[in-house]
Amino acid sequence: MNDRFLRALRRQPVDCTPVWIMRQAGRYLPEYRKVRAQAGDFLALCQSPELACEVTLQPLRRFDVDAAILFSDILTVPDAMGLGLSVQEGIGPRFESPLRSRKDIENLPAVNIEDELGYVMEAVRLIRAELDGKVPLIGFSGSPWTLATYMVEGGGSKEFSRVKGLMHDRPGLMHELLDKVCHAVIDYLSAQVNAGAQALMVFDTWGGVLTTPDYLQFSLRYLHRIVSALKATADGQHVPVILFTKGGGNWLEPIAETGCDAIGLDWTISLSAARKRVGHKVALQGNMDPTVLYASSGKVAREVERILDDFGQADGHVFNLGHGIHPGIEPDRVKTLVDTVHRASKRT
Ligand code: CP3
Repeated sequence: MNDRFLRALRRQPVDCTPVWIMRQAGRYLPEYRKVRAQAGDFLALCQSPELACEVTLQPLRRFDVDAAILFSDILTVPDAMGLGLSVQEGIGPRFESPLRSRKDIENLPAVNIEDELGYVMEAVRLIRAELDGKVPLIGFSGSPWTLATYMVEGGGSKEFSRVKGLMHDRPGLMHELLDKVCHAVIDYLSAQVNAGAQALMVFDTWGGVLTTPDYLQFSLRYLHRIVSALKATADGQHVPVILFTKGGGNWLEPIAETGCDAIGLDWTISLSAARKRVGHKVALQGNMDPTVLYASSGKVAREVERILDDFGQADGHVFNLGHGIHPGIEPDRVKTLVDTVHRASKRT
């Protein structure tokens, strides 16, 4: 098996730097759009293990990426809690029944993962079988804070007024919500490991909108709990965990303290500065600005080389973008990125 990705997460030597792309299966690929149309819509695609498996593998046929990531969405967990998710092109995700009162939060059911999200585990098993050891499979979840923002706002948000209002005015109730979501996330990630996921990534897409004390209390505390719980249940085999807080550059030291294996970085902090702060305690994943992929191939290659140089000659780097790839990107640019990472980082 190509285990560069897992080796880099363990800070072990590699023959060249591993690379994968956040949202590597998605709308920028014409073959993805075709399968989504065949499924009917995005959620139907997530809920069909066969089709989710197919789109997971699509980027691996085009690019020499070093990991596959389960095709699904972070919002399937609140959907399983009864919030009624829909995802519409051009509008984004929406919940039919957002959490708007104390009662809504108190009545939020615990999820039985195998019953409600069995389709995800079935997809994980299918993908592992199809991959046949070619590259490792990453499972994932949203962070409790990030999931809560969607559950309270009812969809995407710019101001986060409702969820921050809840946090400021009723912190106890906010913690009650985060605690429930955290339990579901732990069960969900453990089930993915049992089904065959070989590494895990937690997406804290909206942690960066918080103040430092609020981040530590309302987001990081739960990330810490997730990492500890996964370690406790790992009977012998340790599955590495990557924590990604978008806009989290201020908090690298406390993130590393959670015991995670790697920190995902967006493009607002340099890899060299991050390394100085966390040393070899964790691996680093990232962090090319996704908009560079709109530029010429020459520019993409130069930017890849600059980032590799910035990390320097050391173990523990997984190349990625600093956030998900945009739908308008030319797939050829991704090929340039992936091939340049491998070529320019070849160890002699
Ligand atoms: O990385 C991968 O290839 C795996 C697939 C994946 C998706 N969503 C597929 C998807 C992953 C890891 C996610 C995570 C996710 N979903 C996050 C965290 C990561 C991040 O980007 O910060 C968040 C915040 C969501 C919530 C979500 N789901 C949004 C905001 C949207 C709309 C995006 C848009 O641009 O319209 C979705 C839908 C979604 N999830 C799509 C894909 C490919 C697009 C849906 C479509 O095909 O129409």
